[in-house]
Amino acid sequence: MPGFEIFGDEERKQVEEVLGTGVLFRYGFDQARRGRWKARTFETELARRLETGYCHLCSSGTAALSIALAACGVGAGDEVIVPPFTFVATFEAVLQAGAVPVFADIDETLCLAPESIEKVLTKRTRAVMPVHMCGAMARIDEIRIICDRKGLVLIEDTCQALGATFNGQALGTFGHAGCFSFDSVKTITCGEGGGVVTNDRDIYKRADAYADHGHDHMGDDRGLEDHLILGSNFRISELNAAVGLAQLRKLDWILEKQRAHKKAFKDAMAGFAGITWRRLPDEAGDSATFLSFFLPDAARAGRIAAKLKDAGVDSCFYWFDNNWHYLRHWGHLKKLISAARLPIQLMDNLPDYDRLELPVSDSIMGRLISMQIKLSWTAEEVDRRIENIGKVLKAEGL
Ligand SMILES: Cc1ncc(COP(=O)(O)O)c(C=O)c1O
Repeated sequence: MPGFEIFGDEERKQVEEVLGTGVLFRYGFDQARRGRWKARTFETELARRLETGYCHLCSSGTAALSIALAACGVGAGDEVIVPPFTFVATFEAVLQAGAVPVFADIDETLCLAPESIEKVLTKRTRAVMPVHMCGAMARIDEIRIICDRKGLVLIEDTCQALGATFNGQALGTFGHAGCFSFDSVKTITCGEGGGVVTNDRDIYKRADAYADHGHDHMGDDRGLEDHLILGSNFRISELNAAVGLAQLRKLDWILEKQRAHKKAFKDAMAGFAGITWRRLPDEAGDSATFLSFFLPDAARAGRIAAKLKDAGVDSCFYWFDNNWHYLRHWGHLKKLISAARLPIQLMDNLPDYDRLELPVSDSIMGRLISMQIKLSWTAEEVDRRIENIGKVLKAEGL
């Protein structure tokens, strides 16, 4: 995702404003900051953009997940249903909360399948955390119905899908809370940063407090603030927020460009009968950060991913063999290798992550290639890539 590709005068100007005041921190120093509140402004603009009630900006997407879990009351001993195709942060946050990640299958949306959620529900299930992977949506309406029916907390990991919508509604706003990442490889970047959004004032208040040692953020003397709850420090700095603010204001331009690039590839590849596309419950809402497609079988997908690389078509990920995003290679999770004992290791009846088998997800992931869509490509580069992709697919008889 293109956050790392753009850094221009707008970002520089925002950062210089912060440097000009010397107030590099999001809280306090009201006089010295001369009316400049970058984190606060980012929060207001993101909430407005997503048409949601509240936003709390924090230090990372991982922090956002931890904050959302705490703010929604998910903690020790609770089971949280997560997908096996995600970034490790999703289950790490669950483990940090003292809760138990329970894996359910994905479907061809590349996200949690509603029917597989039903299969792993137990008396301990407290939350469902779908991940809108690679820029587009899970079947979030169906997932929400299950959560409503069962009284479960719904937290959307929207770290990879800022700007995507489902039936016109922003992803991240369907559940109790939605989490975003603004790291180096996200749709927009703060350098490092994250955000929690919610429509629920109580969840927002707890998120705001939890992310800053429980502070109630009332008044203008930090030393006199009350502690609403036990918390931690997940604060973002004003410098990071300043970069993100400039980037947020470019979001429409980013989405437009990504969508145009993606369409060019999709149109050009439409003639290859051996390829099928990722299922998109609402194609118009795709943020178009990736073009994800399926090959007829895993052997061919692996081979074609390698051939695309050799042909100079970079950033075509074969996640099935990659350590980054799929459970198959997460040896540290399977053996629960941690720096120190985890709360989960004090519990009974745990899932056996080492023996966990998800053949449905394996068969989907084995056939999948996801090509990153970049902003910086020129029209000539797009044409050259299309030509090279065509050569590889033709040689494979697709
Ligand atoms: C799906 C998903 N969730 C969470 C995160 C964590 O975000 P961060 O790197 O900002 O902590 C990422 C980042 O790659 C992600 O892709």
